Amino acid sequence: MDSSIKAFVFDVYGTLFDVTAIKKECEELYPGYGEEISQSWRSKQVEYFMLRQLMGNYATLHTITHQALKYVLKENDLQSNEENEQKLMEAYLHLPLYEEVEGVLAQLKDKNLTVFSNGSHDMLNPLIENAGLTGAFKHILSVDEVKEFKPAPASYQYALDKLGLANNQVLFMSSNGWDISGAKNFGFQTAWINRKNLPVEELDLEPDYIFDDLKGLLKWK
Ligand code: LAC
Repeated sequence: MDSSIKAFVFDVYGTLFDVTAIKKECEELYPGYGEEISQSWRSKQVEYFMLRQLMGNYATLHTITHQALKYVLKENDLQSNEENEQKLMEAYLHLPLYEEVEGVLAQLKDKNLTVFSNGSHDMLNPLIENAGLTGAFKHILSVDEVKEFKPAPASYQYALDKLGLANNQVLFMSSNGWDISGAKNFGFQTAWINRKNLPVEELDLEPDYIFDDLKGLLKWK
């Protein structure tokens, strides 16, 4: 299905930015635990926004990310203190882009490029600014404006309303299986950026396109 795509909408964490890179700062503060903390931290963050969505108990991703970190440090019997937590929360604002991202965005610069993230603006805006990408996007959309987390349909509806398009005029990119499934369920065209070479989720929601990284999008340049 490839009708005329009018907007290229990108998930942020794991899709544009390498959220696993936080392992470095975790290892510096907690030697020997870097991998465990960074992996568990992301998993707990996702679990917490899913739970809050199901409970109807919204909090910003900034709050959730901090709470998930506190849990993971306690789970590993690691000394948690405000200074270390702030250092790791600050590192979340300086995640590296995946290596192909800047080049692909530059080649698609005449398109409507938008980000749409579960991240709150106090996380997204500095992250995108620190990467030098502030001018690259027509919209920086956060679920915080509607208080509905992806993959809830209401969340994608908010993004679609901001874009002023029909759902099949949007090509949505995410590396996260739960997110690309949610976007497909909502009716966006979907390009799964399968960076980890994972199997498709067993949710009866096949992505329209599957690429190893964002370079696959250059077919639309
Ligand atoms: C995002 C992450 C949480 O929405 O997938 O950017």
